[in-house]
Amino acid sequence: MPQQVPRLIAVFVVALAALIGARMALVPDTFGDLGHYRAAAVDSITAHPKKYAGHAECSLCHGPIAEQRLTSNHRTVTCEVCHGPAAQHTTAPMDIKPTAPRERGLCPLCHSYNPSRPTGFPQIDEVAHNPLTPCITCHDPHAPEPPEVPEECSACHGQIARQKAVSHHTNLQCTVCHEAREEHKVNPRANRPSKPVQRSFCGVCHAQDDLSGERIPQIDLRSHGEPYMCWQCHYPHRPESG
Ligand code: HEC
Ligand code: HEC
Ligand code: HEC
Ligand code: HEC
Ligand code: HEC
Ligand code: HEC
Ligand code: HEC
Ligand code: HEC
Repeated sequence: MPQQVPRLIAVFVVALAALIGARMALVPDTFGDLGHYRAAAVDSITAHPKKYAGHAECSLCHGPIAEQRLTSNHRTVTCEVCHGPAAQHTTAPMDIKPTAPRERGLCPLCHSYNPSRPTGFPQIDEVAHNPLTPCITCHDPHAPEPPEVPEECSACHGQIARQKAVSHHTNLQCTVCHEAREEHKVNPRANRPSKPVQRSFCGVCHAQDDLSGERIPQIDLRSHGEPYMCWQCHYPHRPESG
C-alpha cells in the first residue's frame, strides 16, 4: 500500500471527528425538531414584548376617532403608522402616551410629489404648499377632506398662465384650446384635458381665408410651416412671429 494512503485516511478521520464535535457543541438542542430551524425559537420570539397593538385595540378607548377614520380618506392608514408603536400605551394609558406628529415632517412621507406614486394619489409640493404652517392647521389628520377645488387653471399651472399673460394670446382662455372636465381639477393625472392635434385648429383664427378677425395676423395654412405642427415652431402659450 502506498504510504500516502494511511496519511490521507488519518486526515479524513480527524476532519470527521472535528465535524461531529462541532455539530454536537454548536448546533442548538431543539434544531430540527419541527423543521430546518430551532424549535425553541418560536417560544423566544413570542416572548418578545409586543410593540404594536393594532388599530382594533385603539378603538376600545378612542371610539370617536377610530370611527371617524374608518369612513375618511385615511381609512387605509392605521393609527400606529402615525402615532408609532403603542402597545405599552394600551396597558398603561396615562403613564405612557404615544407621540402625535404635529409638525410638517410626517405627512410628506406619503404626500410629497413623487412621479413613481400611483396616478391620482393626492400629492403636494412640500416646499411650495403653504410653507411653514403645520399640515394639521388646515387638514384634520383623522379625516382629511378632499380639498376645495381650485377655480382657476393658474392655481396649478402658474408658469404657463404667467407666460400667456404677457403674450399675444393673453386674451385667449385656456379652455379655448383645451377641453378640461371639472374632474381634471380634482384628479388631474387621471382626467387629462385635450390638446390641439391638428394645424387646422390654429387655422380657425389664423388662416387667410378666415375673414372674421381682421386684427388677427394671418398665414397661408396650406403652405406656412408645412408639414410641421404649428406648436413645433410657435410656443402656443407665448407665440412669437419670428
Ligand atoms: C385602555 C384605553 C386606551 C387604549 C386601548 C388606547 N388609548 Fe390612547 N389614550 C388613552 C388615555 C386615557 C389617554 C390620555 C387622555 C388624556 O391625556 O386626556 C390617551 C391618549 C392618547 C393620545 C394622545 C397623546 C397626546 O399627546 O395627547 C394618543 C395619540 C393615543 N392615545 C393614541 C392611541 C393609539 C394609537 C392607540 C391604539 C394603539 C391607543 N391610544 C389605545 C387610553 C387608551
Ligand atoms: C395620518 C396620521 C394619523 C393617523 C392615521 C391617526 N392619527 Fe391620531 N393624531 C395625528 C395627529 C397629527 C394628531 C395631533 C392633532 C392635533 O394636535 O390637533 C393626532 C392626535 C390624536 C389624539 C389626541 C387627541 C386629539 O384629537 O388631538 C389621539 C387620542 C389620537 N390621535 C388617536 C388616534 C387613533 C386612535 C387613531 C386610529 C384610529 C389615529 N389617531 C390615527 C395623526 C394621526
Ligand atoms: C402612510 C401614508 C400617509 C400618511 C403618513 C399621511 N397620509 Fe394623507 N392620505 C394617505 C392615503 C392612502 C390617502 C387616500 C388617497 C386616496 O384616496 O387615493 C390620503 C388622503 C389624504 C388627503 C385627501 C386628499 C384628497 O384629495 O382626497 C389629505 C388632505 C391628506 N391625506 C392629508 C394628510 C396629512 C395632513 C397628513 C399628516 C397628518 C397625512 N395625510 C399623512 C396616506 C397618508
Ligand atoms: C394654510 C392651509 C394649508 C396647509 C398648512 C396645508 N394645506 Fe394642504 N391643502 C390646502 C388647500 C386649500 C388645498 C386644496 C387646494 C390646493 O391644492 O392648493 C390643499 C390640498 C392638499 C392635498 C390634496 C392635493 C391633491 O392634489 O389632491 C394634500 C395631499 C395636502 N393638501 C396635504 C398637505 C400636507 C402634507 C401639508 C403639510 C406639509 C399641507 N397640506 C399643508 C391647505 C393647506
Ligand atoms: C389641481 C391642480 C390643477 C388644476 C386646477 C388644473 N390642472 Fe391641468 N394638470 C394638472 C396636473 C397635475 C397635470 C399633469 C401634469 C403632468 O403629468 O405632467 C395637468 C395637465 C394638464 C394638461 C396636459 C395634459 C397632457 O396630456 O399633457 C393640460 C392641457 C391641462 N392640464 C390644462 C388645464 C386647464 C385648461 C385647466 C383649467 C381649466 C387646468 N389644467 C387646471 C393639474 C391641474
Ligand atoms: C392658443 C391655444 C392655447 C391656449 C390659449 C393654451 N394652450 Fe396649453 N397648449 C396648447 C397646445 C397646442 C399645446 C401642445 C403643445 C405640444 O404638444 O407641444 C398645449 C400644451 C399644454 C400643456 C402640456 C404641457 C406643455 O407645456 O406642453 C399644458 C399643461 C397646458 N397646455 C396648459 C394650458 C393652460 C393652463 C392654459 C391657460 C393658462 C393654456 N394651456 C392655454 C395650446 C394652448
Ligand atoms: C381663438 C383665436 C386664436 C386661436 C385658436 C389661436 N390664435 Fe394665435 N393669435 C390670436 C390673436 C387674436 C393674436 C394676436 C393678438 C394681438 O397681438 O393682437 C394671435 C397671435 C399669434 C401669433 C403672433 C403673431 C405676431 O404678430 O407676432 C402667433 C405666432 C400665433 N398666434 C400662433 C398661434 C398658434 C400656433 C395657434 C394654435 C396653437 C394659435 N395661434 C391659435 C388668436 C388665436
Ligand atoms: C417650420 C416652423 C413653423 C411652423 C410649423 C409654423 N410657423 Fe408660423 N411662423 C414661422 C416663422 C419663422 C414666422 C415668422 C416669419 C414669417 O412671417 O413667415 C411665422 C409667423 C407666423 C405668424 C405671424 C404672421 C404675421 O403676418 O405676423 C402667424 C400668425 C403664424 N406664424 C401662425 C402659425 C400657425 C397657425 C401655424 C400652424 C398652422 C404655424 N404658424 C406653423 C414658423 C413656423
